[in-house]
Amino acid sequence: MEVVPLDSADEVAALAADTIEAAVRAQPGTVLGLATGSTPLATYQELIRRHRAGGGPSYDDVRCFTLDEYVGLPPGHPESYRATIARELTDPLGIAAERVHGPDPAEADLPSAGERYEAELRAAGGVDLQLLGIGSDGHLAFNEPGSSLGSLTRIKTLTDRTRRDNARFFGSVDDVPRHVLTQGLGTILRARHLLLLATGAGKAEALAAAVEGPVSASCPASVLQLHPHVSVLVDPPAASGLG
Ligand code: F6R
Repeated sequence: MEVVPLDSADEVAALAADTIEAAVRAQPGTVLGLATGSTPLATYQELIRRHRAGGGPSYDDVRCFTLDEYVGLPPGHPESYRATIARELTDPLGIAAERVHGPDPAEADLPSAGERYEAELRAAGGVDLQLLGIGSDGHLAFNEPGSSLGSLTRIKTLTDRTRRDNARFFGSVDDVPRHVLTQGLGTILRARHLLLLATGAGKAEALAAAVEGPVSASCPASVLQLHPHVSVLVDPPAASGLG
């Protein structure tokens, strides 16, 4: 695992954008794994800025897979991760909607939705570069503490802490769904390169546990220590708990 301390959140976004652009340029049909939440937004804005300025790579043949999705939101809800990723990244980059995949919470049989998503990921040849954020409780995607380190895409229940953390997107914690479909930790570990972004003091404790603590389901992000190619980009407040 390579931890890269940077001087600011803007530098994290710039280096993350460099890494994503390099992956897209490196091979036709790159498969990108995308995260939602606040942390990657500055990276996405930087990619869009470069694309509009004419300096970015072509995204025409890129395929994208999101990490997770809320269960129970009406179709097209603006806070669904499908709508969010289209608005914040893939539409502005001109990536066609059919090239953007996510776990489908509309499946009548939710457990089979997880298996279907695993099959889609396999059929695409796996994820080349997976962008990740970390929850303040150490969650990765929506694998909350206690998640199996080998888990695959499945339904999970959000903790009260994560629902409170995400209430800012919904106006009220009562409106945050309780259930999600999420890639498992085992799914995430199959991606060829993992790029974890952590910014802000709220992530310091979880980041230190993930990077320097024992590998344990108590801190799901600690599973990253088992992967051979992980880059962690951190700003000074997020790095403040590292030894
Ligand atoms: C989002 C996701 C989550 C977030 C995490 C951090 O797709 O999988 O694990 O990365 O909750 O969220 P922010 O960036 O909003 O602090």
